[in-house]
Amino acid sequence: MSNIIDGKEIANIKKNALIKEINSVKDKLKLVVIQVGNDPASDVYVRNKRKICEELGILFNHLKYESISEDDLITTIEKLNNEKEVTGILVQLPLPKNIDEKKVIEAISPLKDVDGLTKANVGNLFSFQDGLKPCTALGVIEILDCANTKIEGKNVVIVGRSRLVGLPLISLFLKRNATVTICHSKTENLKDITKKADILVVAIGKKEYIKEDYVKDGAVVIDVGINRENGKLYGDCDFENIKDKCSKITKVPGGVGPLTVIMLASNVVEAYKLQNR
Ligand SMILES: NC(=O)c1ccc[n+]([C@@H]2O[C@H](COP(=O)([O-])OP(=O)(O)OC[C@H]3O[C@@H](n4cnc5c(N)ncnc54)[C@H](OP(=O)(O)O)[C@@H]3O)[C@@H](O)[C@H]2O)c1
Repeated sequence: MSNIIDGKEIANIKKNALIKEINSVKDKLKLVVIQVGNDPASDVYVRNKRKICEELGILFNHLKYESISEDDLITTIEKLNNEKEVTGILVQLPLPKNIDEKKVIEAISPLKDVDGLTKANVGNLFSFQDGLKPCTALGVIEILDCANTKIEGKNVVIVGRSRLVGLPLISLFLKRNATVTICHSKTENLKDITKKADILVVAIGKKEYIKEDYVKDGAVVIDVGINRENGKLYGDCDFENIKDKCSKITKVPGGVGPLTVIMLASNVVEAYKLQNR
């Protein structure tokens, strides 16, 4: 049997379950994605978000501005916060440098913050309370669960401490009773730490950085990285040389990526529930 975890297959199973859940909700769900500037990578990400919403029957509104002032952007968000028919609001990052990202994120109502980035939601996450959580981090846990990986008691090492991936994973893994170590660019002797991981999650954005000698025999490796080179996608792990050592491993593309957009749709449903409880 293959040890490669198929993210697409897991995303499909999750998608079918979500369709049933969305159909049982009495109101139409709506996601608004706000994009500022002309970043081609952001265009791709927004397209993927639109596609999944359309497949699932979630209304999708894309507000794209070539440029907008910080004040006007915040006013737009505040209006959306007050529109009952808007379930979720997502500001596509990065924003242009003249706009204060933190201020803009904080303007989103925590109940509509489907990226889980507001201080209120980060606080909820780290105090193990209900709230919206970052999609990619949720996707990592979903993948492990669907691949029947035991998390409790395991030695989990996360490489990368971004607020979208590494940081929220600390709390998600702790909640599942794992022993968690988090590493970053200043970590010394990284290899010695990753080699002790039962579950190794890598999200650093460096093509094939994690080599065979960073991984323990039998480890489960989740590669979050997406690195583009000459039109091809690569993960943060040297997949070809690691795969035979692992009990389970995700591939790039086709691993965590498909789960991230599904978990966004799942967060829209979650936002609806939080707003209507
Ligand atoms: N599959 C998906 O759906 C998905 C979603 C989100 C992101 N991604 C991908 O995941 C990767 C990471 O994204 P991100 O947004 O989390 O990145 P990010 O915000 O750039 O953060 C990168 C993190 O990696 C750490 N790092 C960088 N080089 C390192 C090294 N040599 N050793 C150890 N740690 C190192 C950084 O440490 P410092 O904090 O010390 O700088 C930082 O914490 C990217 O390739 C991105 O495209 C994929």
